[in-house]
This record gives sequence, C-alpha cells and structure tokens, in this order.
Amino acid sequence: MIHVAVFGYGTVGKGVAEVIDRNNDIVSSASGDKVSVKYILDLLDFPGDPNEAKIVHDVNVIISDPEVSIICETMGGTGAAYKFTKAALEQGKSVCTSNKELVAKHGAELMKLAKANGCAYLFEASVGGGIPILRTLTTALTAERITQIAGILNGTTNFILTKMEEEGAGFDETLKKAQELGYAEADPTADIEGHDTARKISILADIMSGHFTDSDNVPTTGISGIDKSDIALASKAGFKIRLLGIADRADDDSVSTVVAPFMLSKSHPLAGVCDVFNAIFVTGNMLGETMYYGKGAGSLATASAVVADVIDAARKGSSTMYPGWDDVPVKARNAAGEKHRYMVRFDAGNSDKARALFEGAEEIGVCEGKFGLITGPADRIDTGNGIVENVIEIYE
Ligand code: HSE
Repeated sequence: MIHVAVFGYGTVGKGVAEVIDRNNDIVSSASGDKVSVKYILDLLDFPGDPNEAKIVHDVNVIISDPEVSIICETMGGTGAAYKFTKAALEQGKSVCTSNKELVAKHGAELMKLAKANGCAYLFEASVGGGIPILRTLTTALTAERITQIAGILNGTTNFILTKMEEEGAGFDETLKKAQELGYAEADPTADIEGHDTARKISILADIMSGHFTDSDNVPTTGISGIDKSDIALASKAGFKIRLLGIADRADDDSVSTVVAPFMLSKSHPLAGVCDVFNAIFVTGNMLGETMYYGKGAGSLATASAVVADVIDAARKGSSTMYPGWDDVPVKARNAAGEKHRYMVRFDAGNSDKARALFEGAEEIGVCEGKFGLITGPADRIDTGNGIVENVIEIYE
C-alpha cells in the first residue's frame, strides 16, 4: 500500500482526494501498488465529508508516521507550507505540489533537500494547472534550445479579458461577475495584478535557464488598467488583448521576463485562448513553435497533475526529479535598445494632439470615446505622461 497525505483540504486538496478515489484502479496500477489517502491536514473539520475521518490538525502525526511516503501539498503560500514541506522531505517523504508561490521562491532549495533525502519534490501542477508543461519541457523538448516561452498562465484574468471582449463590458463589472461565478477569489489582487502569472513564468524561466529567476523581480503589470475602450480599439485594429508571461533567452543564456497585457494579432494561436483556459507557447531553435493548451485552474484538472506526480514519486522516487535549477540568479538579459510597436490610447478630445505627438503612427480611430494609434517600432512609451492614457505592447 502507498499511503498518501494531503496538506490542505481546499479546492485542489479535495480534488486530489477525489482523483485518487475515482481513478483508484488507474492510479494504483500505474504506481505499482494500491494508493490510498491516509490523512488530510487542515485547520478545519469537515463534518459530513466522505473524508471526515482522515482529517488531522497536527502535522506531526503525518511527519512521524513511517507508513506515509508521499505528501500532496495543496495549502498554498510560503509560510506553513514551506515549513511542513521541509519537514516532510527531511523524513524522506516525497512532496507533490500545486503551490507556485513556494516553488517560485524556494524550489531550488527544496529540490536539493529532496535529493539529499532520497525523495522527490514535484510540482507539475504549479504552472498551467493540468497542462503537462513542466514534463514536456524537461523530457520531450530536451534536444531543443528554448529561446522563448510565452504563456497565458492565469485563468481568472483570461476569463475577465475574454468576457470584456465578448460583452463590451468594463473591467469592474466583469471582475464582479467572475467573483460571482467563483472564477475570481474574494481578494483577486494576485491574479488581476499579474503576481500569479509572474510566479508561473519565473518557474518556466528557471527550468529554461537552469538558474533562479526571482518572481519578485519580474516587471509586472496586471489587467486592472485595461479599459473597455482598449479592447474595442484593439479589436478594430485586428488584435486581442491577453495577459502574457514571457521569458526570453539570448544566445549568451541571459534571460528576461515580463508580465503584462499584450496585443495579439487575432490570427495568433494564443489569441484564440478564451475563458479560464491557459496556453503556453514555446519556441525552440530546431522545432520552432509549439503550443500546449488546457485547463489552467480548477479542482480536478489541477489535482490530476498533482496525482500524476504522486504516481511518478511512487514509481521512481528521487530519480523522477526534473533537471531543475540551482539557486544562482540567472544572468539578466539586457533588453535596452529593443524597439516594439505599441497601441496608445488617448481621450478622443486629444486626437489632434495625439497625431502631432506620434506623427506617422497608424490611426485606429475612436471607440468608446477614446482615440487609438499604433506606433511603429519605438522605445517604451510611458503612461501618465501628458495625454497618453494607456500603452499596450504588440506581441510579435
Ligand atoms: N488563480 C489561478 C488562476 C489559479 O486564476 O489561474 C491557478 O493557479
């Protein structure tokens, strides 16, 4: 019997218990022995829940039980989750997690600790939910020199942007709707301000480069500044707006990362990614472009990736670890001097001034009382400077 414990009985933790239960024949046969959840750690009790009897409140009950060989950490955060993960790995228990914040901050250290203790620290579910992107990068694409990873990595913001697009609605009312539908958290800051995407693109950049990319240092702009006029102007010009996390790698292995809303030509595969779906667009020097698409959030989709890691940990222990990355900071790519095209938004009353300021730019016209232009290749344009209300870079 392979005894598993789940840390945190929230959305993903409940999904893990359900996947192990409903797909028990498949999970057990792939693992080489019967897999069973022995404990669930949570602060709360869950009266009436089918797993009520497995709930424990003291982590030491689990850490000190030699029968438990694998932990699914679905608590989130870098406080107790970090402490409990370290304690589990030190006891030789493999940890499989969906906790992107912890992986982005302490992944290198935790992988090292796992290796030293003959167990594994696995985190397929931390990026792209159920999309198997980490395994793809570390197995199928190992003959490639990856030059860029660009991803729609956050379901909440993608839902909001596509609903604004479909319904011509404003940001605030669409966010409210996303909260009512359970797609956005009561406190949506980490999603809408891009911090969740920054953690995920950092993990992808870590894997791409083999070095540490601090998610706190990723230049990050969220979607709260996107007005319905931006969406309408972009659409009129043949673009969609998507929140992207992008990691670029130069020939000298330096890496730059960014999170921001970008303009995507409507014909680009990422522009067709709607609602809560995620997609990761990977460019390799031999293979060219590939895209990986699927549910980037949600209980069962994310839990499926956690349980796939459980199976790997059960079958291969520490030898299943990703090539990983070290804790040496990645060399920063110097993007100074690079020029991009931008969509610039102004109040319609300032259109003459805008034309004079951006002479030669392509005019989109007026939508929702706002005037839009598309510049030629230019240095970064700042907002809040005179008549410029918003600037969105074109991804190309
Ligand atoms: N809040 C995240 C999202 C959940 O909206 O994508 C998955 O990490």
